[in-house]
Amino acid sequence: DRWRRFVFEKPFGTDLDSARALNKELRSILREDQIFRIDHYLGKETVQNILVFRFGNSIFEPIWNRNFIDHVQITVAEKVGVETRGGYYDQAGALRDMIPNHIFQLITLTTMEPPVSFDGNAFRDEQAKILRAINPFSPEEVLHHAVRGQYAEGEIDDKPVPAYRTEEKVASDSRTETFVALKLMIDNWRWAGVPIYVRTGKRMATRHTDITVQFKQAPLMLFRETSIEKLPTNRIVIHIQPDEGITLHFGAKIPGLNLEMGAVDMDYNYSEHFGKTL
Ligand code: BG6
Repeated sequence: DRWRRFVFEKPFGTDLDSARALNKELRSILREDQIFRIDHYLGKETVQNILVFRFGNSIFEPIWNRNFIDHVQITVAEKVGVETRGGYYDQAGALRDMIPNHIFQLITLTTMEPPVSFDGNAFRDEQAKILRAINPFSPEEVLHHAVRGQYAEGEIDDKPVPAYRTEEKVASDSRTETFVALKLMIDNWRWAGVPIYVRTGKRMATRHTDITVQFKQAPLMLFRETSIEKLPTNRIVIHIQPDEGITLHFGAKIPGLNLEMGAVDMDYNYSEHFGKTL
């Protein structure tokens, strides 16, 4: 038995039309089940764990919706610059480099309905439903819901780092973005009205990728006569990398005669529980 499989990494076209043209060309010579359009984020343990966390436990899913969740934030911050990939990156930019692939994987895994089985097509179906429910921006919405930026020269960890425009193989008047932030809405029954804030950039002060699910605030009413003016927010933070883990933030009474509240954490850390396996 002979078999052939073909693996494709991004960029898979540069827009819908070019991606469709590429698909058409591939399908004229290959069967769909021979084609693998891969995304390396799906190889990360912490990303694979999103579904296990959501659907392998009974306590999270009942509150995983617009009735309890205020908003979701997804951050992919990198310290590195474009390194030696200026030629590719200057044509792509942060949006094409990170959003339709890695970040959309994180969004769909975080927000999709439970698939009918642990099978590739079942996942694809549910992820596709989320993508269909994210409406493209109108030109006016772009002005309100999207921000772009480009790194200038500066310092990271007390070391000088060059401006994007002076990086190798980058045009000296380049307008390509190295940072992008978006406010997305998922227009479906579970998520209507819950903003999904995403941001990604190179040459940021720290390197961290995480997903923060922020819950609605409890009513302050009970504490009105006390010195508590604000309640800490309840958040679940999925640390994709580094310091892989999951943290639950909540409020607790600060020991003492006065009624005061502080923010505390419950932490699951991969290396503490499973050793250095990542
Ligand atoms: C790649 C992008 O797909 O992902 C790079 O092209 C980016 O620009 C990289 O640095 C990030 O991957 P990781 O696994 O380091 O988060």
